Amino acid sequence: MTINIPKAWERRFKEKINCQSMNLPLKMWLSSFLRVLDKNTIILDSGCGTGEKAYYIYKRGLKVIGIDSSASAIAFAKKNIHGPEFFKKDCIRTGFKPNSFGAIVSIAVLHCFMKRERLKYIRELRRLLSPGGYLFVLVLSSDDTTKSREKEIEKGTFIQSNGIPFHLFTNEEIVSLFNNFKIIELKHHKKKTDKGVMACYTLIMS
Ligand SMILES: C[S@@+](CC[C@H](N)C(=O)[O-])C[C@H]1O[C@@H](n2cnc3c(N)ncnc32)[C@H](O)[C@@H]1O
Repeated sequence: MTINIPKAWERRFKEKINCQSMNLPLKMWLSSFLRVLDKNTIILDSGCGTGEKAYYIYKRGLKVIGIDSSASAIAFAKKNIHGPEFFKKDCIRTGFKPNSFGAIVSIAVLHCFMKRERLKYIRELRRLLSPGGYLFVLVLSSDDTTKSREKEIEKGTFIQSNGIPFHLFTNEEIVSLFNNFKIIELKHHKKKTDKGVMACYTLIMS
């Protein structure tokens, strides 16, 4: 099954776009990652959406570039968020030179892809991360019950009514997917919400 994921996201942003508030646990997880980075590190926010996480990073005194395939999300970020640089780019084929970034954050992006894109995306992250650099990734876990699993389109990947897929990762899967990275920290988080249990993994890698 072929799905044009950037197109589905652009449709979604065209329908509704607003500032995404950042929840407290994510702020904590990110700030412990950011704390170890040198102030001159250039950080890529890969799949930055409307740019709030890039802004959070920028406010900590770090240099940040946000990229996203959605023209609407990037236009919104450029208009409303001042400090980081934003570019409309495909995060699977960025065109940046190898080793361009001392740190990369990828928040809730990898789980939006089908298997083929997931593999390509991870290869691109590896290519862009400079030796000794750090990568922060957040993805949904298979314990998450907040989304409908009615329509499975690939093993562990489901499609939502808006045409956007999501993949629910197991621990083994995430570890094997990042076998070209050194995993420094892998944490599983669970939180009860009114839509069910929100469950995700955060990883810090080099
Ligand atoms: C769940 S949102 C997360 C956005 C942001 N990281 C955040 O945490 O608010 C997923 C984002 O991935 C972007 N995206 C999907 N496919 C992409 C691609 N091929 N290249 C760049 N961005 C992509 C979407 O446009 C969307 O902004």
